[in-house]
Amino acid sequence: MANTVIIGAQWGDEGKGKIVDLMSEHSDVIVRFQGGNNAGHTISVAGKKTILHLIPSGILHPQALCLIGNGVVLDPQVFLEEVDALVSNGVDASSKRLGISYKTHLILPYHKALDAARESARSKDKIGTTGRGIGPCYEDKASRIGLRAGDLARPELVKAKVERALSEKNILFTHLYQREPMDAAKIADELLSLAPRLLPYLKNVEEEVSRAKMAGKKILFEGAQGTHLDIDHGTYPFVTSSNTVASNAATGSGVGADVLDTITGIVKAYTTRVGEGAFPTELFDSQGAFLQKNGHEFGATTGRPRRCGWLDCVILRASARLNGLTEIALTKLDVLRGLEKLKICTAYKYQGQEISYPPQGEGTLGEVTPCYEELPGFDEDISGIRTFNALPANVRRYVERVEELVGVHIAYISVGCDRDATIVR
Ligand code: IMP
Repeated sequence: MANTVIIGAQWGDEGKGKIVDLMSEHSDVIVRFQGGNNAGHTISVAGKKTILHLIPSGILHPQALCLIGNGVVLDPQVFLEEVDALVSNGVDASSKRLGISYKTHLILPYHKALDAARESARSKDKIGTTGRGIGPCYEDKASRIGLRAGDLARPELVKAKVERALSEKNILFTHLYQREPMDAAKIADELLSLAPRLLPYLKNVEEEVSRAKMAGKKILFEGAQGTHLDIDHGTYPFVTSSNTVASNAATGSGVGADVLDTITGIVKAYTTRVGEGAFPTELFDSQGAFLQKNGHEFGATTGRPRRCGWLDCVILRASARLNGLTEIALTKLDVLRGLEKLKICTAYKYQGQEISYPPQGEGTLGEVTPCYEELPGFDEDISGIRTFNALPANVRRYVERVEELVGVHIAYISVGCDRDATIVR
């Protein structure tokens, strides 16, 4: 069976957790390759909800080895809290089943403090980050002053690196943001006190993945956030700090791109976004409120209400191209039930012209006007349906039209929260 990369094709929160969970059943190794605990994957099995921010959702399947790749930024405290929560729910989260790359960068308290200080200083033009210290941690990685998981075995190095990082950041805290300086020795000691629990999880992730590949095992690469939050290709500067596109699955786990076979884009049947930034099909009326309420559109990580709007096939076309999507999983289709008309954005009007691909310059997505096509809605409860042909005609029409507009086969359709509520075409 082919190795699969799962990525969000919109602005995150597409329902990746459920599809990862579904596919994990047939996977031997599951790897997270970017982002950190800014993600929030909600998985619902037999009515019981589990939210994971950092540990791959596949951990709920006992056969799977779950790995956190070099491309991830890991908050040690959050990792251990998730381990504890899983263990208390009877899930094996030991180092036999779970590993962290030596090269994974660590999120430290000063990253979170800097994230918060910056956001509050930006006030009007804030990014709307999750406040988890993600950006500042990736900044330290790029500045070559980051701490990596493998450093935990070397206390002197940890102390020196924390001191080095804070020598700069404390100037920002005290002089620019009018905050208290942070204590390097205290931060290093707190981190080192967690080391005995973290060190057993360290693994040579690239070797594990490559060994799995040679043995013909099935590998699942679990993306976080969404394509339009990608640091390069997203709606910059309102983006996250990592590459969320599928090709980063290789870089972020330390393997060659030849390992990536199937690229599954997760597409919510409508569009949502949390945080700031352009959103052409955003709804400010009762239909937006309907989607928010029926879709329970509140962030799994921050609890913030998500902005809601119609499905935008222009950004999806870009996602298909940027990721090389080979298939789509369409989620939350059931949420549309009860809407009289369903609108799909097929193109944009931009500077007097109709365009079928997002404009390129910074801020330009905020200047487009969406062109809509209207389809009839549906009133039937589709949550119990398990075959495509059994879906009401208007639902099939919607799915087939999206497929046509994006040019990628819709292989999975999710019609309810539970693992079972899925149509495989
Ligand atoms: P950061 O990743 O916390 O730096 O936040 C940067 C932007 O990405 C903000 O708009 C966040 O709301 C958004 N973001 C980060 N993670 C997620 C996610 O998992 N789902 C949706 N949006 C996210």
